[in-house]
Amino acid sequence: MSVDLDHTTPRPAAPGGPLRVALVIGSVREGRVGCAIARWAATHAERRADLEIDLVDLRDVDLPADLPDDPTIGLSAWAKRVEAADAFVVVTPEYNRGIPAALKHAIDAVREEWYAKPVAVVAYGGQARGLRAAEQLRLVFGELHVQVLRDTVCLGLGDGALDESGWVCDPGAVRALEFALDRLTWWGTALRTARTDQPYVR
Ligand SMILES: Cc1cc2nc3c(=O)[nH]c(=O)nc-3n(C[C@H](O)[C@H](O)[C@H](O)COP(=O)(O)O)c2cc1C
Repeated sequence: MSVDLDHTTPRPAAPGGPLRVALVIGSVREGRVGCAIARWAATHAERRADLEIDLVDLRDVDLPADLPDDPTIGLSAWAKRVEAADAFVVVTPEYNRGIPAALKHAIDAVREEWYAKPVAVVAYGGQARGLRAAEQLRLVFGELHVQVLRDTVCLGLGDGALDESGWVCDPGAVRALEFALDRLTWWGTALRTARTDQPYVR
């Protein structure tokens, strides 16, 4: 089957309704670029009738540092939000060759809610364009039975990937994002059907 590279073909509704995609802003830093990049990714994703986007700002997710056995209201709300999603787009910067602590904490805070779902990674940073953070995410999510897409959307902040308003203007990045969303939709739909047909082995 050929891939619709110009994305003009109307997509049929996925069986089971639009795929619920949580798009996670992985940076909580004051003055973060992450919001602008997430807004760009969300704008493209929201144009697709077959996707329903839940934009998650980790600043608003109230997670206790000690991850108590008796979950707090914030922890329960986060677990429900992850559970409700069929697929994820994780927008992450590279911090010291890895992902931000807040993102790792949010991933670690729940477990089975991640299982058997796909993740698309949009990474950004300096020279390495966020690739080392993206590879770390692959390792972490491997433990959580998550299918991380082979292709990562990588943005080099020093390469003029963003214009003055913070919008991603690199046409290659737009193509990479659209392609990642196509593949995320494929995996998300396939795994949602599979989880519905038969509960995932735990
Ligand atoms: C604590 C910290 C560590 C960083 N480490 C790296 C790094 O290892 N590699 C890199 O390419 N960029 C690194 N950077 C640059 C960030 O990727 C860049 O500042 C980016 O804008 C951070 O994302 P944010 O603005 O959304 O927080 C680092 C930035 C910070 C704040």
